[in-house]
Amino acid sequence: MFKYKVLDLFAGGGGFSTGFEMVELDGAGFEILRAVEIDEDACKTLELHLGKEKVIKGDITKTEIKQKIITDCKGKVDVIIGGPPCQTFSLAGPSRSGKAEMREALKNDPRNTLYKHFFELVKAIEPRFVVFENVEGIISKEFDQADELNAKQQVAIEVICDELEGLGYYTYLKDRIVDRYQVLNAADFGVPQQRKRVIIIANKHDRLNSLPQKITEDKPVSIKEVISGLPVVLPQLSTETDLLRFNYIFGEFDKSVGKFIDTINGLKDFYREQNEIQSEEFSALIQYVNEAGKKLKKRKYTKEKALKEFIKGYNEKLKPFVNLYKQDYKTYHTSRVHNFRDVIIFSYMRQGTNSAQFIRKDSPVYDGFLDSLYPYDRTKHLDTYVKHSLEKPSNTILSHMQKDGLKFIHPIQPRTFTPYEAAMIQSFPPGHVFCGERNAQYRQIGNAVPPLLAKSIGEAILSMLVDIDAKIAKKNQGLTTSV
Ligand SMILES: C[S@@+](CC[C@H](N)C(=O)[O-])C[C@H]1O[C@@H](n2cnc3c(N)ncnc32)[C@H](O)[C@@H]1O
Repeated sequence: MFKYKVLDLFAGGGGFSTGFEMVELDGAGFEILRAVEIDEDACKTLELHLGKEKVIKGDITKTEIKQKIITDCKGKVDVIIGGPPCQTFSLAGPSRSGKAEMREALKNDPRNTLYKHFFELVKAIEPRFVVFENVEGIISKEFDQADELNAKQQVAIEVICDELEGLGYYTYLKDRIVDRYQVLNAADFGVPQQRKRVIIIANKHDRLNSLPQKITEDKPVSIKEVISGLPVVLPQLSTETDLLRFNYIFGEFDKSVGKFIDTINGLKDFYREQNEIQSEEFSALIQYVNEAGKKLKKRKYTKEKALKEFIKGYNEKLKPFVNLYKQDYKTYHTSRVHNFRDVIIFSYMRQGTNSAQFIRKDSPVYDGFLDSLYPYDRTKHLDTYVKHSLEKPSNTILSHMQKDGLKFIHPIQPRTFTPYEAAMIQSFPPGHVFCGERNAQYRQIGNAVPPLLAKSIGEAILSMLVDIDAKIAKKNQGLTTSV
Protein backbone atom coordinates (compact mmCIF):
# COMPACT_ATOMS: atom_id res chain seq x y z
CA MET A 1 0.00 0.00 0.00
CA PHE A 2 1.30 3.45 -0.83
CA LYS A 3 1.72 5.55 2.32
CA TYR A 4 1.73 9.33 2.40
CA LYS A 5 4.09 10.59 5.08
CA VAL A 6 2.98 12.55 8.09
CA LEU A 7 4.76 14.69 10.68
CA ASP A 8 2.87 14.90 14.00
CA LEU A 9 3.86 17.96 16.05
CA PHE A 10 2.91 18.13 19.76
CA ALA A 11 2.05 14.48 19.33
CA GLY A 12 1.11 13.65 22.97
CA GLY A 13 0.22 9.99 23.41
CA GLY A 14 -0.59 9.78 19.70
CA GLY A 15 -4.36 10.15 19.25
CA PHE A 16 -3.94 12.07 15.99
CA SER A 17 -1.27 9.64 14.73
CA THR A 18 -3.34 6.57 15.63
CA GLY A 19 -6.33 7.88 13.67
CA PHE A 20 -4.25 8.83 10.63
CA GLU A 21 -2.64 5.41 10.54
CA MET A 22 -6.11 3.80 10.47
CA VAL A 23 -6.98 5.46 7.14
CA GLU A 24 -7.09 3.38 3.98
CA LEU A 25 -8.46 4.40 0.62
CA ASP A 26 -7.85 3.08 -2.91
CA GLY A 27 -4.67 1.32 -1.91
CA ALA A 28 -3.28 4.35 -0.10
CA GLY A 29 -2.87 5.33 3.54
CA PHE A 30 -0.71 7.34 5.92
CA GLU A 31 2.46 6.59 7.80
CA ILE A 32 3.81 8.72 10.60
CA LEU A 33 7.35 9.64 9.59
CA ARG A 34 8.13 11.59 12.77
CA ALA A 35 6.25 12.49 15.94
CA VAL A 36 7.57 15.28 18.16
CA GLU A 37 6.80 15.48 21.85
CA ILE A 38 8.36 16.87 25.04
CA ASP A 39 6.71 14.69 27.68
CA GLU A 40 8.71 11.60 28.73
CA ASP A 41 5.78 9.24 29.24
CA ALA A 42 4.02 10.35 26.07
CA CYS A 43 7.28 9.73 24.16
CA LYS A 44 7.45 6.19 25.56
CA THR A 45 3.88 5.59 24.38
CA LEU A 46 4.73 6.93 20.92
CA GLU A 47 7.90 4.82 20.73
CA LEU A 48 5.91 1.73 21.59
CA HIS A 49 3.40 2.29 18.81
CA LEU A 50 5.47 3.97 16.11
CA GLY A 51 9.00 2.71 16.76
CA LYS A 52 11.78 4.53 18.58
CA GLU A 53 13.39 5.97 15.47
CA LYS A 54 10.23 7.89 14.58
CA VAL A 55 9.96 9.85 17.82
CA ILE A 56 11.78 13.12 18.35
CA LYS A 57 11.84 13.79 22.05
CA GLY A 58 12.30 17.43 22.98
CA ASP A 59 11.16 21.01 23.02
CA ILE A 60 9.94 22.26 19.65
CA THR A 61 10.96 25.80 20.54
CA LYS A 62 14.65 24.81 20.77
CA THR A 63 16.76 25.44 17.68
CA GLU A 64 18.49 22.04 17.73
CA ILE A 65 15.17 20.18 17.91
CA LYS A 66 13.69 22.29 15.14
CA GLN A 67 16.78 21.65 13.05
CA LYS A 68 16.49 17.89 13.58
CA ILE A 69 12.82 17.95 12.59
CA ILE A 70 13.64 19.88 9.42
CA THR A 71 16.55 17.60 8.51
CA ASP A 72 14.44 14.47 8.98
CA CYS A 73 11.31 15.79 7.28
CA LYS A 74 12.05 18.38 4.61
CA GLY A 75 11.06 17.06 1.21
CA LYS A 76 9.71 13.86 2.75
CA VAL A 77 6.51 14.84 4.46
CA ASP A 78 3.11 15.25 2.75
CA VAL A 79 1.08 16.31 5.78
CA ILE A 80 1.85 18.11 9.04
CA ILE A 81 -0.71 17.54 11.79
CA GLY A 82 -0.74 19.03 15.27
CA GLY A 83 -2.47 20.82 18.08
CA PRO A 84 -0.17 23.29 19.80
CA PRO A 85 -1.34 23.82 23.38
CA CYS A 86 -2.78 27.33 23.74
CA GLN A 87 -3.58 27.86 27.39
CA THR A 88 -5.44 31.13 27.02
CA PHE A 89 -7.83 29.73 24.44
CA SER A 90 -9.29 27.20 26.79
CA LEU A 91 -12.93 27.72 27.75
CA ALA A 92 -12.28 25.99 31.07
CA GLY A 93 -9.82 26.83 33.81
CA PRO A 94 -8.05 29.96 35.03
CA SER A 95 -7.91 31.71 31.66
CA ARG A 96 -11.63 32.27 32.07
CA SER A 97 -12.39 32.11 35.74
CA GLY A 98 -9.07 32.70 37.53
CA LYS A 99 -7.98 35.74 39.50
CA ALA A 100 -6.62 38.81 37.68
CA GLU A 101 -2.98 37.98 38.52
CA MET A 102 -3.48 34.42 37.29
CA ARG A 103 -4.85 35.71 34.01
CA GLU A 104 -1.95 38.15 33.77
CA ALA A 105 0.52 35.29 34.27
CA LEU A 106 -1.26 33.28 31.60
CA LYS A 107 -0.98 36.17 29.19
CA ASN A 108 2.79 35.80 29.37
CA ASP A 109 2.72 32.01 29.34
CA PRO A 110 5.20 30.83 26.67
CA ARG A 111 2.68 28.15 25.68
CA ASN A 112 0.62 30.89 24.01
CA THR A 113 3.22 31.35 21.32
CA LEU A 114 3.82 27.67 20.58
CA TYR A 115 1.69 27.92 17.47
CA LYS A 116 4.34 30.24 15.99
CA HIS A 117 6.87 27.42 16.18
CA PHE A 118 4.35 25.17 14.46
CA PHE A 119 4.20 27.63 11.56
CA GLU A 120 7.97 28.04 11.43
CA LEU A 121 8.17 24.31 10.82
CA VAL A 122 5.39 24.40 8.23
CA LYS A 123 7.30 27.15 6.43
CA ALA A 124 10.57 25.22 6.48
CA ILE A 125 9.17 21.79 5.56
CA GLU A 126 6.49 22.85 3.07
CA PRO A 127 4.16 19.86 3.32
CA ARG A 128 1.27 19.57 0.86
CA PHE A 129 -1.34 19.66 3.64
CA VAL A 130 -1.50 21.09 7.17
CA VAL A 131 -4.03 20.16 9.82
CA PHE A 132 -4.25 22.45 12.84
CA GLU A 133 -6.37 21.25 15.76
CA ASN A 134 -7.35 23.22 18.81
CA VAL A 135 -9.87 23.87 21.56
CA GLU A 136 -13.15 25.56 20.79
CA GLY A 137 -12.19 28.62 22.85
CA ILE A 138 -10.01 29.73 19.98
CA ILE A 139 -13.08 31.01 18.15
CA SER A 140 -15.23 32.02 21.08
CA LYS A 141 -16.99 35.31 20.57
CA GLU A 142 -18.08 35.56 24.16
CA PHE A 143 -14.98 37.16 25.58
CA ASP A 144 -15.01 40.51 27.32
CA GLN A 145 -13.91 43.10 24.78
CA ALA A 146 -12.47 45.38 27.47
CA ASP A 147 -9.88 42.82 28.41
CA GLU A 148 -6.81 43.05 26.23
CA LEU A 149 -6.04 39.34 26.56
CA ASN A 150 -9.51 38.34 25.48
CA ALA A 151 -9.61 40.79 22.62
CA LYS A 152 -6.60 38.91 21.26
CA GLN A 153 -8.33 35.58 21.69
CA GLN A 154 -11.25 36.71 19.62
CA VAL A 155 -9.18 37.05 16.50
CA ALA A 156 -6.83 34.13 17.11
CA ILE A 157 -8.49 31.79 14.62
CA GLU A 158 -8.33 34.41 11.88
CA VAL A 159 -4.68 35.13 12.69
CA ILE A 160 -3.89 31.44 12.32
CA CYS A 161 -5.77 31.08 9.02
CA ASP A 162 -4.08 34.25 7.70
CA GLU A 163 -0.73 32.88 8.76
CA LEU A 164 -1.36 29.72 6.74
CA GLU A 165 -2.59 31.69 3.73
CA GLY A 166 0.56 33.81 3.99
CA LEU A 167 2.61 30.62 3.69
CA GLY A 168 0.79 29.70 0.49
CA TYR A 169 -1.88 27.38 1.91
CA TYR A 170 -5.52 27.41 0.96
CA THR A 171 -7.76 27.18 4.03
CA TYR A 172 -11.23 27.53 2.52
CA LEU A 173 -13.69 24.70 2.78
CA LYS A 174 -15.99 23.09 0.24
CA ASP A 175 -19.61 24.19 0.64
CA ARG A 176 -18.70 27.12 2.90
CA ILE A 177 -18.51 30.71 1.81
CA VAL A 178 -16.80 32.42 4.71
CA ASP A 179 -15.48 29.99 7.31
CA ARG A 180 -12.00 28.66 6.94
CA TYR A 181 -12.28 26.33 9.90
CA GLN A 182 -14.66 23.71 11.21
CA VAL A 183 -15.93 22.89 14.65
CA LEU A 184 -16.21 19.12 14.74
CA ASN A 185 -17.94 17.19 17.46
CA ALA A 186 -16.32 13.80 18.04
CA ALA A 187 -19.80 12.38 18.77
CA ASP A 188 -20.62 12.80 15.05
CA PHE A 189 -17.68 10.59 14.11
CA GLY A 190 -18.51 7.41 16.01
CA VAL A 191 -16.84 8.52 19.25
CA PRO A 192 -18.96 8.00 22.41
CA GLN A 193 -18.13 11.48 23.62
CA GLN A 194 -19.25 15.08 23.21
CA ARG A 195 -15.98 16.76 22.33
CA LYS A 196 -15.88 19.80 20.11
CA ARG A 197 -12.63 20.77 18.49
CA VAL A 198 -11.66 23.36 15.94
CA ILE A 199 -9.95 21.99 12.85
CA ILE A 200 -8.26 23.92 10.09
CA ILE A 201 -7.32 21.96 6.98
CA ALA A 202 -5.03 23.77 4.57
CA ASN A 203 -3.48 22.68 1.27
CA LYS A 204 -0.84 23.92 -1.12
CA HIS A 205 -2.83 22.84 -4.19
CA ASP A 206 -5.22 25.81 -4.31
CA ARG A 207 -8.21 23.56 -3.72
CA LEU A 208 -11.25 23.90 -1.57
CA ASN A 209 -10.72 21.54 1.34
CA SER A 210 -12.96 18.50 1.77
CA LEU A 211 -15.05 18.23 4.91
CA PRO A 212 -14.60 15.12 7.06
CA GLN A 213 -17.67 12.92 6.65
CA LYS A 214 -19.85 12.47 9.71
CA ILE A 215 -20.40 8.81 10.36
CA THR A 216 -22.82 8.72 13.28
CA GLU A 217 -26.28 8.19 11.80
CA ASP A 218 -29.12 9.28 14.05
CA LYS A 219 -28.03 8.39 17.57
CA PRO A 220 -24.52 8.97 18.89
CA VAL A 221 -22.62 5.97 20.22
CA SER A 222 -23.24 5.54 23.95
CA ILE A 223 -20.55 4.80 26.50
CA LYS A 224 -22.35 1.52 27.22
CA GLU A 225 -21.14 0.24 23.86
CA VAL A 226 -17.49 0.65 24.79
CA ILE A 227 -17.27 0.13 28.55
CA SER A 228 -19.96 -2.28 29.68
CA GLY A 229 -18.07 -5.35 28.50
CA LEU A 230 -15.11 -4.56 30.75
CA PRO A 231 -14.53 -6.33 34.07
CA VAL A 232 -16.02 -4.78 37.20
CA VAL A 233 -13.55 -2.59 39.04
CA LEU A 234 -14.30 -1.40 42.53
CA PRO A 235 -12.39 1.30 44.38
CA GLN A 236 -10.40 0.87 47.51
CA LEU A 237 -11.79 3.15 50.19
CA SER A 238 -9.79 5.48 52.38
CA THR A 239 -10.74 5.28 56.02
CA GLU A 240 -10.49 9.01 56.71
CA THR A 241 -13.89 10.24 57.68
CA ASP A 242 -15.05 13.74 58.13
CA LEU A 243 -16.85 13.49 61.47
CA LEU A 244 -19.56 15.97 60.77
CA ARG A 245 -20.58 14.23 57.59
CA PHE A 246 -19.91 10.85 59.13
CA ASN A 247 -22.72 11.42 61.66
CA TYR A 248 -24.98 12.38 58.84
CA ILE A 249 -24.02 9.33 56.83
CA PHE A 250 -24.73 7.07 59.76
CA GLY A 251 -28.01 8.79 60.59
CA GLU A 252 -29.16 8.10 57.04
CA PHE A 253 -27.92 4.53 56.95
CA ASP A 254 -30.19 3.24 54.18
CA LYS A 255 -29.33 6.15 51.90
CA SER A 256 -25.61 5.93 52.58
CA VAL A 257 -24.05 2.57 53.52
CA GLY A 258 -27.23 0.82 52.38
CA LYS A 259 -27.12 2.52 48.98
CA PHE A 260 -23.45 1.60 48.55
CA ILE A 261 -24.30 -2.04 49.30
CA ASP A 262 -27.26 -1.92 46.88
CA THR A 263 -24.97 -0.53 44.20
CA ILE A 264 -22.56 -3.42 44.60
CA ASN A 265 -25.42 -5.95 44.59
CA GLY A 266 -26.76 -4.29 41.42
CA LEU A 267 -23.45 -4.88 39.68
CA LYS A 268 -23.81 -8.60 40.18
CA ASP A 269 -27.10 -8.54 38.25
CA PHE A 270 -25.92 -6.16 35.56
CA TYR A 271 -22.86 -8.21 34.77
CA ARG A 272 -24.81 -11.44 34.89
CA GLU A 273 -26.95 -9.94 32.13
CA GLN A 274 -23.77 -9.15 30.24
CA ASN A 275 -22.74 -12.82 30.67
CA GLU A 276 -19.62 -12.03 32.58
CA ILE A 277 -18.40 -14.92 34.66
CA GLN A 278 -18.20 -13.67 38.21
CA SER A 279 -14.93 -14.30 39.95
CA GLU A 280 -14.95 -16.04 43.31
CA GLU A 281 -13.33 -12.98 44.81
CA PHE A 282 -16.14 -10.76 43.61
CA SER A 283 -18.75 -13.10 45.09
CA ALA A 284 -16.88 -13.15 48.41
CA LEU A 285 -16.81 -9.37 48.45
CA ILE A 286 -20.54 -9.16 47.79
CA GLN A 287 -21.22 -11.62 50.57
CA TYR A 288 -19.00 -9.63 52.92
CA VAL A 289 -20.63 -6.24 52.30
CA ASN A 290 -24.10 -7.72 52.78
CA GLU A 291 -23.30 -9.52 56.02
CA ALA A 292 -21.08 -6.84 57.50
CA GLY A 293 -23.58 -4.19 56.40
CA LYS A 294 -26.37 -5.88 58.36
CA LYS A 295 -24.22 -5.98 61.49
CA LEU A 296 -23.17 -2.38 61.01
CA LYS A 297 -26.77 -1.24 60.78
CA LYS A 298 -27.54 -2.79 64.16
CA ARG A 299 -24.63 -1.01 65.92
CA LYS A 300 -25.84 1.48 68.49
CA TYR A 301 -22.49 2.69 69.87
CA THR A 302 -18.93 3.28 68.60
CA LYS A 303 -20.34 3.81 65.15
CA GLU A 304 -17.31 5.56 63.74
CA LYS A 305 -15.07 2.68 64.74
CA ALA A 306 -17.57 0.22 63.30
CA LEU A 307 -17.71 2.04 59.99
CA LYS A 308 -13.92 2.07 59.79
CA GLU A 309 -13.90 -1.65 60.45
CA PHE A 310 -16.48 -2.19 57.72
CA ILE A 311 -14.30 -0.24 55.28
CA LYS A 312 -11.18 -2.10 56.38
CA GLY A 313 -12.91 -5.45 55.83
CA TYR A 314 -14.13 -4.33 52.41
CA ASN A 315 -10.60 -3.25 51.41
CA GLU A 316 -9.26 -6.62 52.56
CA LYS A 317 -11.79 -8.51 50.44
CA LEU A 318 -10.98 -6.28 47.49
CA LYS A 319 -7.23 -6.84 47.70
CA PRO A 320 -7.03 -10.03 45.59
CA PHE A 321 -8.48 -8.31 42.56
CA VAL A 322 -7.67 -4.67 43.04
CA ASN A 323 -4.83 -4.83 40.52
CA LEU A 324 -6.11 -7.85 38.65
CA TYR A 325 -6.57 -6.05 35.37
CA LYS A 326 -3.38 -4.02 35.54
CA GLN A 327 -1.51 -6.70 33.63
CA ASP A 328 -4.18 -7.62 31.08
CA TYR A 329 -5.02 -4.07 30.20
CA LYS A 330 -1.61 -2.44 30.09
CA THR A 331 -3.39 0.88 30.23
CA TYR A 332 -4.66 0.75 33.79
CA HIS A 333 -8.11 -0.61 34.31
CA THR A 334 -7.89 0.09 38.03
CA SER A 335 -9.64 2.62 40.20
CA ARG A 336 -8.32 5.45 42.29
CA VAL A 337 -8.80 5.18 46.05
CA HIS A 338 -11.95 7.11 46.98
CA ASN A 339 -13.17 8.36 50.32
CA PHE A 340 -16.39 6.95 51.70
CA ARG A 341 -18.28 10.22 51.38
CA ASP A 342 -17.53 10.28 47.66
CA VAL A 343 -18.58 6.68 46.99
CA ILE A 344 -21.87 7.42 48.77
CA ILE A 345 -22.35 10.45 46.55
CA PHE A 346 -21.44 8.35 43.48
CA SER A 347 -23.88 5.62 44.51
CA TYR A 348 -26.73 7.96 45.35
CA MET A 349 -26.53 10.36 42.40
CA ARG A 350 -28.73 9.67 39.42
CA GLN A 351 -27.12 8.86 36.10
CA GLY A 352 -26.81 11.88 33.84
CA THR A 353 -26.89 14.48 36.64
CA ASN A 354 -24.34 16.74 38.31
CA SER A 355 -23.87 18.30 41.73
CA ALA A 356 -25.07 21.73 40.57
CA GLN A 357 -28.44 20.04 40.07
CA PHE A 358 -28.59 18.20 43.37
CA ILE A 359 -27.68 21.22 45.50
CA ARG A 360 -29.90 23.78 43.79
CA LYS A 361 -33.21 23.93 45.59
CA ASP A 362 -35.10 24.89 42.42
CA SER A 363 -33.75 21.94 40.42
CA PRO A 364 -36.05 18.98 39.67
CA VAL A 365 -33.35 16.64 41.00
CA TYR A 366 -32.57 18.64 44.15
CA ASP A 367 -31.67 16.20 46.91
CA GLY A 368 -31.38 17.27 50.55
CA PHE A 369 -29.25 14.26 51.45
CA LEU A 370 -26.68 14.89 48.72
CA ASP A 371 -26.83 18.62 49.39
CA SER A 372 -25.72 17.94 52.98
CA LEU A 373 -22.84 15.78 51.79
CA TYR A 374 -21.51 18.30 49.25
CA PRO A 375 -18.12 19.26 50.68
CA TYR A 376 -16.89 22.03 48.35
CA ASP A 377 -17.07 25.79 48.22
CA ARG A 378 -20.54 26.80 47.04
CA THR A 379 -19.44 30.17 45.76
CA LYS A 380 -17.39 28.49 43.02
CA HIS A 381 -18.51 26.26 40.15
CA LEU A 382 -20.97 23.69 41.43
CA ASP A 383 -20.71 20.90 38.88
CA THR A 384 -17.84 19.26 40.76
CA TYR A 385 -19.50 15.85 40.53
CA VAL A 386 -20.83 14.56 37.22
CA LYS A 387 -22.32 11.09 36.96
CA HIS A 388 -22.45 9.85 33.41
CA SER A 389 -25.31 8.11 31.73
CA LEU A 390 -24.74 4.61 30.34
CA GLU A 391 -27.01 5.23 27.35
CA LYS A 392 -25.36 8.49 26.24
CA PRO A 393 -21.98 9.69 25.04
CA SER A 394 -19.63 10.98 27.73
CA ASN A 395 -18.74 14.62 28.39
CA THR A 396 -15.38 15.74 27.05
CA ILE A 397 -12.62 13.59 28.52
CA LEU A 398 -10.11 16.03 30.02
CA SER A 399 -6.46 15.80 30.99
CA HIS A 400 -7.69 17.18 34.32
CA MET A 401 -8.50 13.55 35.11
CA GLN A 402 -4.88 13.35 36.20
CA LYS A 403 -5.86 15.56 39.17
CA ASP A 404 -9.28 14.18 40.00
CA GLY A 405 -12.00 12.30 38.21
CA LEU A 406 -15.10 13.65 39.95
CA LYS A 407 -16.52 14.92 36.68
CA PHE A 408 -16.25 11.39 35.31
CA ILE A 409 -18.26 9.18 37.61
CA HIS A 410 -19.06 5.76 36.22
CA PRO A 411 -22.80 5.27 35.58
CA ILE A 412 -23.15 2.09 37.64
CA GLN A 413 -19.91 1.38 39.50
CA PRO A 414 -19.20 3.59 42.55
CA ARG A 415 -15.99 5.18 41.24
CA THR A 416 -14.60 7.42 38.53
CA PHE A 417 -13.52 6.19 35.07
CA THR A 418 -10.34 4.15 34.89
CA PRO A 419 -7.68 5.25 32.35
CA TYR A 420 -8.65 2.26 30.19
CA GLU A 421 -12.30 3.34 30.12
CA ALA A 422 -11.25 6.92 29.31
CA ALA A 423 -9.17 5.55 26.41
CA MET A 424 -12.14 3.53 25.11
CA ILE A 425 -14.36 6.62 25.34
CA GLN A 426 -11.71 8.48 23.35
CA SER A 427 -12.08 5.71 20.71
CA PHE A 428 -8.57 4.27 21.01
CA PRO A 429 -8.47 0.70 19.69
CA PRO A 430 -9.03 -1.98 22.37
CA GLY A 431 -5.77 -2.94 24.02
CA HIS A 432 -4.03 0.33 23.09
CA VAL A 433 -1.24 0.86 25.61
CA PHE A 434 -0.32 4.12 27.34
CA CYS A 435 2.97 4.29 29.20
CA GLY A 436 3.59 5.86 32.58
CA GLU A 437 1.68 5.72 35.82
CA ARG A 438 -2.03 6.31 36.14
CA ASN A 439 -1.91 10.12 36.05
CA ALA A 440 0.47 10.21 33.09
CA GLN A 441 -1.97 7.95 31.28
CA TYR A 442 -4.96 10.16 32.10
CA ARG A 443 -2.98 13.16 30.83
CA GLN A 444 -2.14 11.57 27.47
CA ILE A 445 -5.65 10.19 27.01
CA GLY A 446 -7.40 13.44 27.98
CA ASN A 447 -5.18 15.48 25.65
CA ALA A 448 -5.68 13.27 22.63
CA VAL A 449 -7.55 13.90 19.43
CA PRO A 450 -9.96 10.94 19.40
CA PRO A 451 -8.55 8.50 16.82
CA LEU A 452 -11.91 8.05 15.08
CA LEU A 453 -12.22 11.80 14.60
CA ALA A 454 -8.61 11.94 13.38
CA LYS A 455 -9.39 9.07 11.00
CA SER A 456 -12.26 11.01 9.38
CA ILE A 457 -10.01 14.07 8.99
CA GLY A 458 -7.33 11.82 7.47
CA GLU A 459 -9.87 10.32 5.05
CA ALA A 460 -10.91 13.78 3.84
CA ILE A 461 -7.27 14.64 3.15
CA LEU A 462 -6.39 11.29 1.63
CA SER A 463 -9.29 11.52 -0.83
CA MET A 464 -7.91 14.87 -1.98
CA LEU A 465 -4.34 13.61 -2.20
CA VAL A 466 -5.40 10.54 -4.19
CA ASP A 467 -7.49 12.68 -6.53
CA ILE A 468 -4.76 15.31 -7.03
CA ASP A 469 -2.11 12.68 -7.65
CA ALA A 470 -4.32 10.76 -10.08
CA LYS A 471 -4.80 13.98 -12.07
CA ILE A 472 -1.08 14.74 -11.97
CA ALA A 473 -0.31 11.19 -13.13
CA LYS A 474 -2.85 11.47 -15.96
CA LYS A 475 -1.40 14.78 -17.05
CA ASN A 476 2.11 13.38 -16.99
CA GLN A 477 0.96 10.33 -18.90
CA GLY A 478 -0.66 12.56 -21.50
CA LEU A 479 2.56 14.48 -21.83
CA THR A 480 4.58 11.29 -22.16
CA THR A 481 2.17 9.88 -24.77
CA SER A 482 2.15 13.06 -26.77
CA VAL A 483 5.94 13.27 -26.80
C1 LIG B 1 -3.01 18.71 23.26
S1 LIG B 1 -1.62 17.70 23.46
C2 LIG B 1 -1.54 16.91 21.92
C3 LIG B 1 -2.31 15.65 21.80
C4 LIG B 1 -2.08 14.91 20.51
N1 LIG B 1 -2.34 15.69 19.34
C5 LIG B 1 -2.92 13.63 20.46
O1 LIG B 1 -3.80 13.53 19.63
O2 LIG B 1 -2.69 12.73 21.29
C6 LIG B 1 -0.28 18.80 23.34
C7 LIG B 1 1.06 18.16 23.56
O3 LIG B 1 2.08 19.13 23.31
C8 LIG B 1 3.19 18.79 24.12
N2 LIG B 1 4.08 19.98 24.19
C9 LIG B 1 3.87 21.10 24.90
N3 LIG B 1 4.90 21.96 24.72
C10 LIG B 1 5.76 21.37 23.88
C11 LIG B 1 7.01 21.76 23.33
N4 LIG B 1 7.54 22.95 23.62
N5 LIG B 1 7.65 20.91 22.52
C12 LIG B 1 7.11 19.69 22.22
N6 LIG B 1 5.92 19.26 22.72
C13 LIG B 1 5.25 20.09 23.54
C14 LIG B 1 2.54 18.42 25.45
O4 LIG B 1 3.42 17.64 26.23
C15 LIG B 1 1.29 17.69 24.99
O5 LIG B 1 1.50 16.31 24.97
